[in-house]
Amino acid sequence: MKKLYCVIGNPIAHSLSPAMHTALLEKNHLDASYVPFLITKETFTAAIQGLKALGISGFNITSPFKEAIIPFLDVLDPEAEACAAVNTVVVKDGRWTGYNTDGAGYLEGLRSIRPITNADQILILGAGGASKAIFQALSHHTEANIVVANRTVEKAEKMVVGTRHQAMRLSEAEANLAIFTIVIQTTSAGLTEENAELPITLDNLTAGTIVSDIIYNPAETPFLKIAKSRGATIQNGLPMFVNQAAIAFQLWTGIEADRNLMRNIVLQEIGGK
Ligand code: ATR
Repeated sequence: MKKLYCVIGNPIAHSLSPAMHTALLEKNHLDASYVPFLITKETFTAAIQGLKALGISGFNITSPFKEAIIPFLDVLDPEAEACAAVNTVVVKDGRWTGYNTDGAGYLEGLRSIRPITNADQILILGAGGASKAIFQALSHHTEANIVVANRTVEKAEKMVVGTRHQAMRLSEAEANLAIFTIVIQTTSAGLTEENAELPITLDNLTAGTIVSDIIYNPAETPFLKIAKSRGATIQNGLPMFVNQAAIAFQLWTGIEADRNLMRNIVLQEIGGK
């Protein structure tokens, strides 16, 4: 029987996940569809029960429901548990397992630049959902030293508690910027005209530092533009976005996803808008 996959969230109309996954399903000649569903806080529980009743084969969850899905799962992957957020549900024999592929997706993109070693000093700016997923992946799968800096420093402190990693104020990270070999920008600062201020200045950045931003549209945020002008190797959020979807596809189907195909679809969609 034809399989159904979907993404749920709010808003969802501009999600590029359906285009990427549909292309992968077609390329692999799988008899399946992937569709977006807009749901609200009020309809969330009924929608999830509906997916279960209909025998959904797997789904993605995006903002603001990445936490709300957790009570409906039979199994929670430890990394998803550590960041208390799930973006992918895998269904096997009727059992739902929750994963978070954002962190692994980010790490795969970072490793495409160069291997990460115990000599790396990583600065993560922000302590929201994306930051937590990236922190979990980096702390579990690399030997690097990590500092999380956040405007509300208590959130960063909570993230690193019980680990060998550190929390800092943004001002402290800014003053110590020269020591970092990798800087990861996950905050929502500087994305709009009304919120144009960057989380930190980059005056003390060392040339050759890897600077990444989780945003991919625009391709170069103001933060990345300044970093590039200071001699950084920059990476935007496109590899993370493509890889998180590729990892989800592989979890559902066991098939390695064609990342070039996915990247081209995203670039085509954002270029055409
Ligand atoms: P996401 O889930 O996408 O990571 P989020 O949970 O809304 O996003 O988190 C937004 C992050 O951007 C937070 O770390 C937030 O800092 P606070 O925890 O102090 O709110 C950060 N942020 C938002 N606007 C900012 C600004 N103008 N300057 C610095 N940090 C900002």
